[in-house]
Amino acid sequence: MTTTAPGRFGVYGGRYVPETLMANLIALEAAFDDARRDPAFQAEFAQTLAHFVGRPTPLYHARRLGEAYGGQVYLKREDLTHTGAHKINNAVGQALLARRIGKRRIVAETGAGQHGVATAAACARLGLECIVYMGALDCERQRPNVERMRLLGATVKPVDTGSRNLKVAINEAIRDWIANPENTHYLIGSVVGPHPYPLMVREFQRVIGDEARAQFARVAPRPDAVIACVGGGSNAMGIFAGFVDDPHVELFGVEAGGAGGATAATLNTGRPGVLHGALSYLLQDQEGQILNTHSVAAGLDYPGVGPEHSFLKDTGRAKYEVVNDAEALAAFRDACALEGIIPAIESSHAIAFAKRLLARRPGLCVIVNLSGRGDKDLPGLLAKGLV
Ligand SMILES: Cc1ncc(COP(=O)(O)O)c(C=O)c1O
Repeated sequence: MTTTAPGRFGVYGGRYVPETLMANLIALEAAFDDARRDPAFQAEFAQTLAHFVGRPTPLYHARRLGEAYGGQVYLKREDLTHTGAHKINNAVGQALLARRIGKRRIVAETGAGQHGVATAAACARLGLECIVYMGALDCERQRPNVERMRLLGATVKPVDTGSRNLKVAINEAIRDWIANPENTHYLIGSVVGPHPYPLMVREFQRVIGDEARAQFARVAPRPDAVIACVGGGSNAMGIFAGFVDDPHVELFGVEAGGAGGATAATLNTGRPGVLHGALSYLLQDQEGQILNTHSVAAGLDYPGVGPEHSFLKDTGRAKYEVVNDAEALAAFRDACALEGIIPAIESSHAIAFAKRLLARRPGLCVIVNLSGRGDKDLPGLLAKGLV
């Protein structure tokens, strides 16, 4: 795909970390390279995806949604995976890798809670200790997932500093990892962080795109466009991986526009800088201080983005669009009423963009990555009277 130098996507990516973590990152890169080439590792990963995660997920023809929006809409049903979002693909991959390299203590961060739940489930299955850092604001708005993580045996550590969201949760997870480099693996939940994480997480998520491409080929040679929401960018990189080499398929990443001027649209309103170990687009002020973000979707409420997305944006291979809270909520209601599917509020941003695209260019055939299910969102949205 799009790696230009080891650990780089164009100029983006790299490893901007304290010296104490370098040895860990180099060892992790070697372990991942080795595991990738090991048929036994690949077989166990594939077996786990089939029997624990529940893959392949369907590619569902959403006929009524397509009729309402003016084209053909297919949904890649990551909401039907075990634990309810694409995050589980990467969590099981990295948990298997951690066990392989003898790291039995796992730390993770989570925003919407889906990555935390997925990591807790993967760790329970392999008998690994699991600590999940979560912003205090996100603990409030994604309460069901906090309970699920605890039930699955994880220790949830709320982070009540700064923005009280995903950004501070990642800060704390990195701090823990720096303090415990010998026995701990940091199981990052998106295509962010220092090399090899963006590459490794994409590879664990590419099953989404590989499946979708093969499934769609039974309908027609290719879709016109593939659409996915972008927080850190892992579900998008996962589905893009199946289509990026086909220049006839347009790729759209959808960022969270938030409300009232407060946004999380990093690629659309940010500029390059370093956050959490990598060079990528970043929401920052004139002095380079990270800006606070807002989105109704906890999983998109992040001032950074994966470095490969920055590269795809600059090269023009993918386009990045902005959908605000109100549009996402309307699309959430459309999927419920027209298809009997309650989508995650993150995924609803991608559905909302499908509506906009089909209004502009009627008759297109699009695949939307339905990255997760919306059960986790209901208490928060209902309490605020938003649905
Ligand atoms: C359902 C769902 N979709 C999307 C995301 C955004 O993450 P990413 O951009 O890495 O796919 C999250 C993050 O928590 C999520 O829970």
